Amino acid sequence: MESKIQPFFLTFFLFIILTHAEETLGTYIVQLHPHGKTSTLFTSKQNWHLSFIQQTISSNQDPSSRLLYSYHSAMDGFAATLTHSEFKYLQNLPDVLSIKPDRLLQLQTTYSYKFLGLNPARENGWYQSGFGRGTIIGVLDTGVWPESPSFNDQGMPPVPKKWKGICQQGQAFNFSNCNRKLIGARYFTKGHLAVSPSRIPEYLSPRDSSGHGTHTSSTAGGAPVTMANVFGYAAGVARGMAPGAHIAVYKVCWFNGCYNSDIMAAMDVAIRDGVDVLSLSIGGFPVPLFDDSIAIGSFRAMEHGISVICAAGNNGPTAMSVANEAPWIATIGASTVDRKFPAIVRLANGKILYGESMYPFDRRTRTGEELEVVYLSNEDTESQFCLRGSLPREKVKGKMVVCDRGVNGRSEKGQVVKEAGGAAMILANTELNLEEDSVDVHVLPATLIGFDESVILKNYINSTARPLARIEFGGTVIGRTRAPQVARFSARGPSYSNPSILKPDVIAPGVNIIAAWPQNLGPTGLPEDSRRVNFSVMSGTSMSCPHVSGIAALIRSAHPAWSPAAVKSAIMTTAEITDHAGRAILDEDKQASVFATGSGHVNPQRALNPGLVYDIRPEDYVAHLCSLGYTMSEVFSITHRNVSCHEMLKVNRGFSLNYPSFSVSFKGGMSRKMFSRRVTNVGSPNSIYSVEVMAPEGVKVIVKPKKLFFKRRNQSLSYRVWFLSRKRVKKGNGMDFAQGHLTWLHSQKGSYRVRSPIAVTWKS
Ligand SMILES: *[C@@H]1O[C@H](CO)[C@@H](O)[C@H](O)[C@H]1NC(C)=O
Ligand SMILES: *[C@@H]1O[C@H](CO)[C@@H](O)[C@H](O)[C@H]1NC(C)=O
Ligand SMILES: *[C@@H]1O[C@H](CO)[C@@H](O)[C@H](O)[C@H]1NC(C)=O
Ligand SMILES: *[C@@H]1O[C@H](CO)[C@@H](O)[C@H](O)[C@H]1NC(C)=O
Ligand SMILES: *[C@@H]1O[C@H](CO)[C@@H](O)[C@H](O)[C@H]1NC(C)=O
Repeated sequence: MESKIQPFFLTFFLFIILTHAEETLGTYIVQLHPHGKTSTLFTSKQNWHLSFIQQTISSNQDPSSRLLYSYHSAMDGFAATLTHSEFKYLQNLPDVLSIKPDRLLQLQTTYSYKFLGLNPARENGWYQSGFGRGTIIGVLDTGVWPESPSFNDQGMPPVPKKWKGICQQGQAFNFSNCNRKLIGARYFTKGHLAVSPSRIPEYLSPRDSSGHGTHTSSTAGGAPVTMANVFGYAAGVARGMAPGAHIAVYKVCWFNGCYNSDIMAAMDVAIRDGVDVLSLSIGGFPVPLFDDSIAIGSFRAMEHGISVICAAGNNGPTAMSVANEAPWIATIGASTVDRKFPAIVRLANGKILYGESMYPFDRRTRTGEELEVVYLSNEDTESQFCLRGSLPREKVKGKMVVCDRGVNGRSEKGQVVKEAGGAAMILANTELNLEEDSVDVHVLPATLIGFDESVILKNYINSTARPLARIEFGGTVIGRTRAPQVARFSARGPSYSNPSILKPDVIAPGVNIIAAWPQNLGPTGLPEDSRRVNFSVMSGTSMSCPHVSGIAALIRSAHPAWSPAAVKSAIMTTAEITDHAGRAILDEDKQASVFATGSGHVNPQRALNPGLVYDIRPEDYVAHLCSLGYTMSEVFSITHRNVSCHEMLKVNRGFSLNYPSFSVSFKGGMSRKMFSRRVTNVGSPNSIYSVEVMAPEGVKVIVKPKKLFFKRRNQSLSYRVWFLSRKRVKKGNGMDFAQGHLTWLHSQKGSYRVRSPIAVTWKS
């Protein structure tokens, strides 16, 4: 019977879908002309926005039922639900600049939900100074767990007078959850509810249900907490990068991701609330800047003097995977830290496989039981990856189960093994992860091994009648590995939408970061995990981003008059290109390219006092966008400036943005490029700087002048640099490139060092 009914149902169903496709509502973000001719006819922006919907939809409907958000600070426009034909109609109304479908973006942890990380509490002198005081960091994420000790407001100054934000009431959250540390909290659901109108299965309030937002906001501005640890691992003082800063959270990400319409609404209100820094550990794939809501909203934020810091994304090591690449955004890649949590596997044949774990082992013995090892690769792929319901109890009961990494969450695999009666787990990297480590908390004794080790292990299992192994836990080990290194997952340049700017800008710690965690969630974030913690461990460019947001707050606190471009320049030109051992930063086992590191690894202490900065005024970006070949209306939709690019580029012949790094692209017969730059003295008066160039292979670099004499503070001087291609450097991987750097050195030895990376590519 059933097999006969089904086809009928299918056809019937398809018929309904097809005939009603026109009527399906989708969410669209509509950008309007900020000084639209029709806007003066209305008493409020919202009424103006409603008038567009009213003209579009049938007269018996209430236009306000379709309006999700009215935007006026991050952009002029609104988000609304429309049918396809309504979308077509609205597109052609006067004053409509652009209209685009809503997009779902993702948080940038290496496992997109509920997995864990660990922060190196950097015990540097600069913490003691209470830096970051008076600044406000706005974090767009999954909300916050306000009772976490990281958000206590002991010793915090009063809420800044300029603050206009609120502590929005909602499920299990009210104004009493805010204090002088956590000064604001809001949540944005409309974009989500438009797509999935059924109940959102989590707190409908700024309260964090997943842990990600609690983790990132405490990384940026968390209060110092002594004795912070995850089951005794990494014990020490935990604190955010700017422990003196205030935090405002904007919950825009829900269980399945973050909609652009909600993100825009949060940026819109955050600009009016008065934040100084916006931290977005959110992203997707690169898109042209005029199609990128975060790029457009952050342009407005930048004009209001707000530093916007974004995650570069986790789609590395693929080239051109870097997202959030607008030049007015600071784009942050991920690096490793020098902290390890060894948990080796000792095979019965005497071989030792290196692995890492954060399982709460018995401190006296440190050693797990010797167990029989099983790897169910012959069953099916589901059991190879230990997916839910895939492990036959009779095959795994009491055994150490090998699970390949990927598909489902790493901690979830542990839960699956435990539920099936397994006694321990070995997580095995595949060709996709190679030797990339990621420490997780598990519900049973477990460790993660690299790809090389997993080959040895699987060969051993294959060649042995009854393979046996035990896991030996080593606790926390600091300083034995070279660090920082580029994290394998960290997104790489060159920039897809904007190749004349080198991206990412810098890298910052993003692997095994420990930070605050919701007190009602187990450290794995799994529903079955009943253990309670205040801290947990996560990895991703999501974790790197708030480190830099905190550093930006420190700089702004020390230099309140600096523009966002000056703050970013300070972070970039002082970044390190060597690791703690003084050798070049590594990416896997080779020297990292500037497309992986940008300017290098952040150095907060030096960033506070950079000597020189490359400043950029908002209007400079207009000429830059023209140089990308954007049309007048595309440039207008980002900058709200109506210019003829033709005229603009004629007046600014040979224009190059005053960016603190160089991206040189030789095309066809073109073998010579000139850039001008302007540096401003923010160090001591009467300073002399001389240039030092490490030329990229195959390229001659000429700088004029070679010395800069600054009489005063705040004095600006220009220089020019020519790049002459002598020979194309063949890299054989489809991309011909070379790299170097240009550094301005202060005459006083050991004083300021202002470095810019140079990336050179050859295109045919
Ligand atoms: C706010 O929440 C706290 C507990 O989190 C509760 O004690 C208090 O009664 C609530 N206040 C209001 C006005 O709902
Ligand atoms: C183990 O042996 C089986 C059959 O002998 C083979 O198909 C499989 O590829 C081997 N696996 C490894 C990891 O060597
Ligand atoms: C978490 O922090 C609270 C407040 O400081 C403390 O009372 C509690 O014992 C901590 N919980 C754990 C598991 O350490
Ligand atoms: C820009 O200015 C031109 C003429 O000056 C005008 O025709 C055009 O509509 C303007 N565009 C926008 C987006 O304001
Ligand atoms: C630095 O110079 C710029 C213009 O060149 C000026 O707007 C600014 O006020 C000056 N800042 C200080 C601290 O003198």
